[in-house]
Amino acid sequence: MVAQDMTEIESTVGQAARLTARDVTVGYGGRTVIEGLDVAIPPGVITTIIGPNGCGKSTLLRTLSRLLKPVGGTVLLDGDDIARLRTRDVAKKLGLLPQAPVAPEGLTVADLVARGRHPHQSWLRQWSSDDADVVGRALAMTGVADLADRPVDELSGGQRQRVWISMTLAQGTDLLLLDEPTTYLDLAHAIDVLDLVDDLHESGCTVVMVLHDLNLAARYSDNLVVMKEGAVLAQGHPREVVTAELLQEAFGLRAMVIDDPAGDRPLIVPIGRTHAGG
Ligand SMILES: Nc1ncnc2c1ncn2[C@@H]1O[C@H](COP(=O)(O)OP(=O)(O)O)[C@@H](O)[C@H]1O
Ligand SMILES: [Mg+2]
Repeated sequence: MVAQDMTEIESTVGQAARLTARDVTVGYGGRTVIEGLDVAIPPGVITTIIGPNGCGKSTLLRTLSRLLKPVGGTVLLDGDDIARLRTRDVAKKLGLLPQAPVAPEGLTVADLVARGRHPHQSWLRQWSSDDADVVGRALAMTGVADLADRPVDELSGGQRQRVWISMTLAQGTDLLLLDEPTTYLDLAHAIDVLDLVDDLHESGCTVVMVLHDLNLAARYSDNLVVMKEGAVLAQGHPREVVTAELLQEAFGLRAMVIDDPAGDRPLIVPIGRTHAGG
């Protein structure tokens, strides 16, 4: 049965999925959060994972990036079992922005972003002017170049968030996993970051992100993965996936779904929570 589901997913995604979770079971200390999950991340598009708090979105992203080891099933990165790859090789292919990263005390923005280059360095290949260029570009792309000498722990939440995105970009991978990249950001800065994500996508990157804001998720992604209680409830283009019924089922939310007057995507107009019996 699992094999059948996977064939279906893989045929819709094509054979070249960047990341594939096959029958993955994962949790923390014996407590299962995700059980028997199948998902395939198509290349070159923005996939956004949505779902209620605590449903396992961050757990899935950590598992896809090999930060968490599943107790069952496999994760494939470009077709290779991720568990068998070296940490450095994973880091050269995939950049992860965790949900609540913490920088070492006193570390400056420039030093933190430079750490994104670590996977590319070795005893034989030390810091080079190429690395400096990449870091400079990553700082500029996220608009934090003027913060370069400031300690990360003295920045506002929004500035810090952009610095972490900058570090992830400095890694120079074309596969980015971003866990709530717009946390702490006001709407204008959130749009800024999502436009940047869209530019990265235009330049050929594959992006998997978790977003809280359903309307931004619908507007910026071509593929939505809707999760509930550790399982995938629905997956597909926002125009197909986002319906009043789905929002009801996934979030217990009563909402109207209308056409976004500013685009060709669905727009969610919340009405209220569903209460028991009504
Ligand atoms: N480090 C952890 N240790 C133990 N349990 C965790 C840990 N992280 C998350 N969980 C639990 O796993 C479940 C899914 O969490 P998470 O993946 O963070 O959800 P989401 O990102 O969708 O809000 C929750 O019940 C949460 O309490
Ligand atoms: Mg989370």
